[in-house]
Amino acid sequence: MLNQESNELKKDFPIFLKEDFTYLDTSATSQKPSIVIDSINEYYRNFNANAGRGSYELSIMSKSIIENTRTKVKEFVGASEDAEVIFTKNTTEAINIIAYCYGLNFINEKDEILIAVSNHHANIVPWQFVSKKVKARLKYIYLDKDGQLDIEDFKYKLNENTKLVCLSSAVNATGVLQDFEKIINLSHKKNAKVLLDCSQTMAHFKHEFDKWDVDFAVFSGHKMFSAFGVGVLYAKKELLDMMPPFLYGGDMIEYVHEQSTTYAKVPQKFEGGTLDTPAILSLSKAIDYINSISYERINKIEHNLMIELTFRLMQLDFVELYFTNVERVPVISFNVKGVHSHDTSFILDRYKVFVRSGQHCCAPLLNYMGINSTCRISISIYNTSKDIDRLIEALYKVKETMKI
Ligand code: ALA
Repeated sequence: MLNQESNELKKDFPIFLKEDFTYLDTSATSQKPSIVIDSINEYYRNFNANAGRGSYELSIMSKSIIENTRTKVKEFVGASEDAEVIFTKNTTEAINIIAYCYGLNFINEKDEILIAVSNHHANIVPWQFVSKKVKARLKYIYLDKDGQLDIEDFKYKLNENTKLVCLSSAVNATGVLQDFEKIINLSHKKNAKVLLDCSQTMAHFKHEFDKWDVDFAVFSGHKMFSAFGVGVLYAKKELLDMMPPFLYGGDMIEYVHEQSTTYAKVPQKFEGGTLDTPAILSLSKAIDYINSISYERINKIEHNLMIELTFRLMQLDFVELYFTNVERVPVISFNVKGVHSHDTSFILDRYKVFVRSGQHCCAPLLNYMGINSTCRISISIYNTSKDIDRLIEALYKVKETMKI
């Protein structure tokens, strides 16, 4: 029954109509439903104009697409004001805005930045940059045996000097969900701000930024069914108000004089230059798509597939799984024992099974785990039991080919 349901939803994704393949790399980017693909085509055919630059119909329509999407995103993430939603290119850009505009200006010498060892490089490298520039101390929170942040280690490292705590809601390389509400709560007791990278969770459950009281949150549209080219920076309004702009130029200004400029209010202050209106429109459609299915149904499908997938993988004595005893988004990291992850994924590819291999932009995490790389399976509502069958068959081919 549930498998039939995910079969039903697969029809929404035209890429699967062309060729039968097993896509298990949603954590890198999700496939796109027709409603998203068609919206981009329609935009360029019928509405294309530069948003907010003209007082004619098409330009005004483009501006409304952006502002209507902003309101939709606000509701979708449980923010309290439209102005707390800034459109960016992706998560990396959103984190860089926080690093350049908050980090360089409000974190000082001897302050501390506390980050999870399981963070994606996008949530590590900017903090190395900031801590070097301002001479702050960069400290890591390590993991417990299940791959979650070790709360005792966190409590030990958190102190009055901690200015910012950076973590992800779920780890992209392993899928492990973090107890971020607890971390936010404890951080606030020491007056530290929290940045939550939600890239890996937006497609899986309802986010409530205001209720969680998170200070900064970021995500990319393309991992939650929208097109590439749009991401979101959420921040509490008072933080955005005190931060200087990131990109200087058109549309982020109030008045420009020869020698000086006053800036527009948020959100425009952080949206210098022409925005990617069709990508933003596609994000609006992606949200409509998720809402039309409901997180409850998405969860049910993914949960059932994960039970089946985990059970089937556990039967394979030549496969090692990582961190499966803990709550996760639909992601499993594994290795075929004695085989490099790239070799495994290369062989899987021959059988039309697509997984990501390597370090998943998480080198510090893999070093911490004491391994050099993994293969990662990440699933979504378009996957079915047939994909799991194919994966298992293909893994036997890896075993056969590599003679293990
Ligand atoms: N951040 C993406 C991933 O985890 C690219 O694969």
